[in-house]
Amino acid sequence: MTIANVNGGQIAYADAGSGKDVVLLLHAFPLNRGMWSRLVTALEKRHRVISIDYRGFGRSGLTSEPLTMELVAQDVRAVLAHLRVERASVAGLSMGGYVALELYRQAPGLFRGLALCDTKAGNDTPEGAAGRETFAKNAIEKGLRWVTDAMLPKLLKPQPDAAAVAEVRSLIGQATPAGVAAAQRGMAKRPDSTPTLATISCPTLVVVGEQDALTPPAESEKMAKAVKGAKLTRIPGAGHLANLENPEAFNQAVSGFVDALPA
Ligand code: MLT
Repeated sequence: MTIANVNGGQIAYADAGSGKDVVLLLHAFPLNRGMWSRLVTALEKRHRVISIDYRGFGRSGLTSEPLTMELVAQDVRAVLAHLRVERASVAGLSMGGYVALELYRQAPGLFRGLALCDTKAGNDTPEGAAGRETFAKNAIEKGLRWVTDAMLPKLLKPQPDAAAVAEVRSLIGQATPAGVAAAQRGMAKRPDSTPTLATISCPTLVVVGEQDALTPPAESEKMAKAVKGAKLTRIPGAGHLANLENPEAFNQAVSGFVDALPA
């Protein structure tokens, strides 16, 4: 893990594997790049794999501003510029998907391919945005234990495996209450990315856990239809964090997609 002092922040990243083909991994809320450990292991034999912690998560520095998708995408571009990376295939899960769509608006030429995993293109309803503000206040007042208990049932399938519960508890425990609040406030401000879908011209894969209740398969079907040529893969036995609940199927889908991308 390395810290880059870029874009006015301290952004932690890992740069694994080697080669010309870069894969960029964007994590879910309120986790960090550690959620990708198994996928990194699967990909690093053939690709250079860069994973980034957003401000307030993992080892990155804090932010007091709302963590907007614009800011995260700028941070990501600054890390890539620091590493002299000009092209990458990008996989984002949930909030990582929101960031990936903003990154596509800012830098479409970056993309060799795009994997939108357990995410959606639409923005929040006014009630949804208000709920995020309440969550942000609770996170600051009540701490990460409260955040973990509030998020776990949404992130995992009903009756989740104990190992997945323990892994998610540990990953959320590495966040900060200020980072959680900033991310909720930033997600509440995100624009509707639906119009962006029709502009995507790189190969695109949409992936969803069959039991994802937070960004349900119906959202993924809509996204896959709206992106020209996109393929949709459903992951059995998995909820929202499909990469943690069925890593074999998830990693096979994403690495198969990345391996097959044209140079
Ligand atoms: C995530 O998994 O990244 C978030 O739960 C997404 C969201 O809150 O919209």
